[in-house]
Amino acid sequence: MELPGGVVVWAITHHETLQQLLNDPRVGKNAQLWNTFREGRLPEGWPLLNFVTVPGMTTADGEDHKRLRGLVTQAFTPRRIAALQPRIEQLTSDLLDDVAQLEGDFDLREHFAYPLPMQVIGELLGLALAQQDELHELSDTMVSSSATPAAAIAAQQGLFALLASVVAEKRARPGDDLTTDLIAAREETDRLSEQELVGTLLLMLVAGHETTLNLITNAVRALLAHPEQLRLVLDGKVSWATVVEETLRYDSPVGQFPLRYAIEDIEVGNVLIRRGEALIASYAAAGRDSGHHPEADRFDLTRAPAKHLSLGHGPHFCLGAGLARLEAETALRELFGRFPGLSLAPGEAPEPIGSFISNGVRELRVQR
Ligand code: HEM
Repeated sequence: MELPGGVVVWAITHHETLQQLLNDPRVGKNAQLWNTFREGRLPEGWPLLNFVTVPGMTTADGEDHKRLRGLVTQAFTPRRIAALQPRIEQLTSDLLDDVAQLEGDFDLREHFAYPLPMQVIGELLGLALAQQDELHELSDTMVSSSATPAAAIAAQQGLFALLASVVAEKRARPGDDLTTDLIAAREETDRLSEQELVGTLLLMLVAGHETTLNLITNAVRALLAHPEQLRLVLDGKVSWATVVEETLRYDSPVGQFPLRYAIEDIEVGNVLIRRGEALIASYAAAGRDSGHHPEADRFDLTRAPAKHLSLGHGPHFCLGAGLARLEAETALRELFGRFPGLSLAPGEAPEPIGSFISNGVRELRVQR
């Protein structure tokens, strides 16, 4: 497929092939493995450049990857995640109190699906509420396919600058949060460079809210478009966990994830991916692979548990999977518990957000 700027990569759209390549040691994530990058053939101001070179675990392999991932793993153990449940329930309940005050139809994405994961990751990282909206705007622009290259680069620079100022604040006044822990890891053991520290914060922030925001929005949209499926859940015949898994398969919040590179020639079926060529993990397409999921285009909560790849697979499997599932299940259960008669507001079908990475809609207008 062609990415902006005429950059050509392999799109891996079939479930089995994607699963195999995500766990193949002949595939790496360090941009130095990519001929086009190493030979300086990327167009000037290429909008995805920062995404594929940001220093952190998503662009690292082997020992480097283990070191960077290891620094944040302890914040995401099942026990730590379970301990967050009461706080997530409280934030959800407070947001639904605000939603109950809104008149007429309203945008569920803006008033519910966005603030919940942003507040959760914001608290984990120790960000002030006032910083969260600005960070969200910048991260939206960074992953948007409609932003000009100059705007995408400016957004990334803005994000780096803002996060660098957060690091400076936490150095002066440490808190009980992941940012403070990462600073300590950098200063006590020198296991993390300053750039990697800011890169890791950026990753946690973007991965921690853009994705879950789209998962909640996509799930509500699918349920409201399939009232007979929603009925099954409200009647207790299907769990909220099943809704989350089927939504991940049916409408993957990460549409595709750039990029990986062939470390050597790799034969896939009758296709040869040559050493130094790039591939993109097409998660949304794999979820609709009818060779793997029968009647893949049907949102069906009664299908055998969907084995999807939408949280990744192999060494880069989503670190926040447990948190994302907990947030989405809580959000959906509480939302429909409070407003069981929720429906889509009449009007045009919502527009896609327009991003090479995130898959969702710009707005989801609903009525109580
Ligand atoms: C619905 C929500 C989420 C979805 C669909 C999702 C999806 C994914 C996917 C597909 C990957 C693999 C990317 C690749 O290498 O191809 C990934 C990695 C990652 N995710 Fe998530 N994610 C979600 C929520 C979260 C949350 C809440 C956090 C953190 C708070 C998080 C943190 C990460 C990190 C740090 C990685 C990189 C892991 C590595 O490179 O080793 N994600 N996620």
